[in-house]
Amino acid sequence: MGPIIYLNGAFIPREKACISPDDRGFHFADGVYEVIKYYRGRAFCFTDHILRLKRSISETRIRYSGFDQLESAGNELLQVNTMEKEYAGIYLQITRGASPRMHRFPGEETGPTVYMNAFPMPPFIPQLDHGIRVILREDIRWHRCDIKSIMLLPNVLMIQEAAENGAEECFFIRDGFFTECAHSNIFGIKDGALYTHPDSNYILPGITKKVILQLCGMLGIQVREEPMRADDFRNFDEFFISGTGNEVMPVVQIENAILRDGRPGPVTRRIQQEFFRMTYGELAEDWSFREWITNQPINQSTNQQIL
Ligand SMILES: Cc1ncc(COP(=O)(O)O)c(C=O)c1O
Repeated sequence: MGPIIYLNGAFIPREKACISPDDRGFHFADGVYEVIKYYRGRAFCFTDHILRLKRSISETRIRYSGFDQLESAGNELLQVNTMEKEYAGIYLQITRGASPRMHRFPGEETGPTVYMNAFPMPPFIPQLDHGIRVILREDIRWHRCDIKSIMLLPNVLMIQEAAENGAEECFFIRDGFFTECAHSNIFGIKDGALYTHPDSNYILPGITKKVILQLCGMLGIQVREEPMRADDFRNFDEFFISGTGNEVMPVVQIENAILRDGRPGPVTRRIQQEFFRMTYGELAEDWSFREWITNQPINQSTNQQIL
């Protein structure tokens, strides 16, 4: 049997799924999304993903209120695809629904389109060990990158450019400062302290980023949530990126500059080690710990500010 997807409350074979050509996701990219990783059937930071989704829904004024059904729908989707014991991801997308094409919102009769699919997310890809190469590009995205919008054309173009240049990610630069990547947040290490862009309208408030900041608190690594100057990157000792898919991914080359002889740095390794202990290792089953770490207040303000 082929893959089963979730569409507007129903679990149906992917090839039978039918989405209207009038869907506003199709016309305007008028929708939001989340990607949630399941470690052997257990969602990582599920509550944080739902909170972020609620915020995206509220900022885009999409009429959707079925958040309470998403956890069981996600679990059932994994089960019907026999992925409940695997490392898997769930892609969840909510658009403003289908209506004849016009820019203004449709009337109350139009409900959202809610779509989910499950896919394998292999653990420990080799890049986690070796690190990756990134390119540098101007951040050409809009000024509301805090909303997890499906409008991802700039991100698509930059990842394609990265691929064409033998790289895997792209560091975005806005007004001379690193913001984030096409699908990850950026961290730099200098003199033992960890730097990352503060949550604002210029970046997505990454859930992996939040967990990393908590881990740094535990490990005694000083956190400085401040933007890094792009032209200062050679003065940093290490870089890594984070995301649901990338987890904690070392960066060993920026454009043609090879960092640290092409080897991931010790602080990156330490954070990786702790993150993997929590997701794959001895703490993977310790849900009280995971709950605890995602609920810790972090050192600096994480309120999203509009700059
Ligand atoms: C632009 C962008 N920044 C950062 C992230 C990392 O966010 P998270 O750690 O919640 O996956 C993502 C993830 O998709 C992203 O698309």
